[in-house]
Amino acid sequence: MAHILLGVDVGGSSVKAGLVDVASGELTSELLSAPTPVPSTPDALMPVIAELVARLPVSTGPVGLCFPSVVKHGKVRTAANVASAWIGADGAALASRALERPVVFLNDADAAGIAEVRWGAGRGVPGPIVMLTLGTGIGSALFIEGRLYPNTELGHLEMRGMDAEKWASAHVRTALHLDWGAWCGRVNEYLARMEALLWPDLFILGGAVTEHFGEFAPLLRAEAEIRPARFTGQAGVIGAALAAARPAGSAGSAASAG
Ligand code: BGC
Repeated sequence: MAHILLGVDVGGSSVKAGLVDVASGELTSELLSAPTPVPSTPDALMPVIAELVARLPVSTGPVGLCFPSVVKHGKVRTAANVASAWIGADGAALASRALERPVVFLNDADAAGIAEVRWGAGRGVPGPIVMLTLGTGIGSALFIEGRLYPNTELGHLEMRGMDAEKWASAHVRTALHLDWGAWCGRVNEYLARMEALLWPDLFILGGAVTEHFGEFAPLLRAEAEIRPARFTGQAGVIGAALAAARPAGSAGSAASAG
């Protein structure tokens, strides 16, 4: 079953794992999740990932693991929503040792975008596409002709004197008890900044909050079309597995076990 690969998505609040049919983009197992440990150091996170993976049916082949940081050549370079002990860590090598498998390690929003552009809301759209994940932070992934420009970090654009993700993420909505109107006002301001800089044809909005897209979509405004992610909170797991199915080097970075 070479086309069934394992995907893992490490987020600021939860870690998810599942098996993915990379020939169709569908999950073929339950989507398992566990809270992200606090503090989310490498030593605390690796056993959580390994335990989730051990609860899934056995799979072979490389594992795709996406992480909420800039990832260059397998190494974690930033840590906005995970423990700062990750900065400089070789995430691909650590995960590969813990899971005893080759691991393709990449940014979480890039993974979500890969899933959406291959099998979801961006399928067949030549672009330019801006994928945004609205969760603990704001992740971004840019695509043109289906190809990713990785590690774009547009959630850290400055707005109102702070990081945009501190102004408009889904976490900010719940923490400040914003109603859909107040939150969408913030998201619209953020989308307007994106449009002024990037002029996309399509915005794809992802993250678990987009399960409620029908409730807040009428309040969103942008010149470009806005579509909800097809895979909402599953996109990271699916995209990570898809990245693992590609030849090493095309998205993320692989490390071999051992
Ligand atoms: C991180 C990004 C990540 C995003 C979503 C941001 O704080 O800097 O790397 O993609 O959160 O998790």
